[in-house]
Amino acid sequence: MRETKATIAVLLALFSIFLIGTYLRLYGPTSTSVQLNTSVDANTNPFNTWWKIYRKSEDFGNVFKWDHYLDIYHRHFARFRNKELTLLEIGVRNGGSLKMWRDYFGPGVQIYGLDIDAKAKRFENKLERVKIIIGDQGNATFWTEALKTLPKFDIVIDDGGHTMNQLKVTFDHLYDHVKPDGGIYFVEDLHTAYWSGFDGGYKRSGTFIEYTKDLIDQLNAYHSKDTKLAVTNFTRCTQSMHMYDSIVVFEKSSHPKYHSILSQ
Ligand SMILES: C[S@@+](CC[C@H](N)C(=O)[O-])C[C@H]1O[C@@H](n2cnc3c(N)ncnc32)[C@H](O)[C@@H]1O
Repeated sequence: MRETKATIAVLLALFSIFLIGTYLRLYGPTSTSVQLNTSVDANTNPFNTWWKIYRKSEDFGNVFKWDHYLDIYHRHFARFRNKELTLLEIGVRNGGSLKMWRDYFGPGVQIYGLDIDAKAKRFENKLERVKIIIGDQGNATFWTEALKTLPKFDIVIDDGGHTMNQLKVTFDHLYDHVKPDGGIYFVEDLHTAYWSGFDGGYKRSGTFIEYTKDLIDQLNAYHSKDTKLAVTNFTRCTQSMHMYDSIVVFEKSSHPKYHSILSQ
């Protein structure tokens, strides 16, 4: 009798530990995300909740991101949730991020994943509305051919090889393929622009960060009095650029010349 009581007590204790652990995992303070000083509340950001409950499986492996990305994703992507949209992620690896996008955006998202590794093709059978393209993002000819059959994208996320050449070739071909009315071009892991192994380096010519600085000038070209800085297609179709640690986000929309206003 005493042994039975002891066994029940141990089982109750273990069950309580399990319940407390589950509660803390779901609702406790997050260790996977940081709260940036933006309009996004870390406690209600669906990416944070997803990250806590997601477990890699036979179908989808782990996702590899940096903790502050989750806040930035929700800040820019929230308006697309539960709508019809097309998303291209460059860099599939274990497929976990494909699952993350599906869970976040809902059934309306048509996902395209691009990877140089032909094994990525297996994810096409694991999730509805996912198409995997195999190709080299650093190859201009690949893009010229591939874009003939691909739709315009609401969101492009470049999380591929991250070398300076790959980033630039991809941007030069894909930016025009992002929808002009509110589309987003999202480049992550840009710390590689400071790493020599990716052809990066501080103020080194040709890095994507240096290129981005030139694009900031183009965004402001309507105000230029210097003939070297002229209005381009990029000026006319880019509404804003957002620089974060390791990330740049381009938001597209018709950008006419604005006019100054004076209150009464
Ligand atoms: C950082 S991982 C992607 C991680 C994934 N998006 C995630 O969040 O878990 C980078 C992927 O880019 C792919 N990759 C590397 N070089 C590439 C290239 N030139 N073209 C296309 N994909 C490339 C790699 O095979 C790898 O799967």
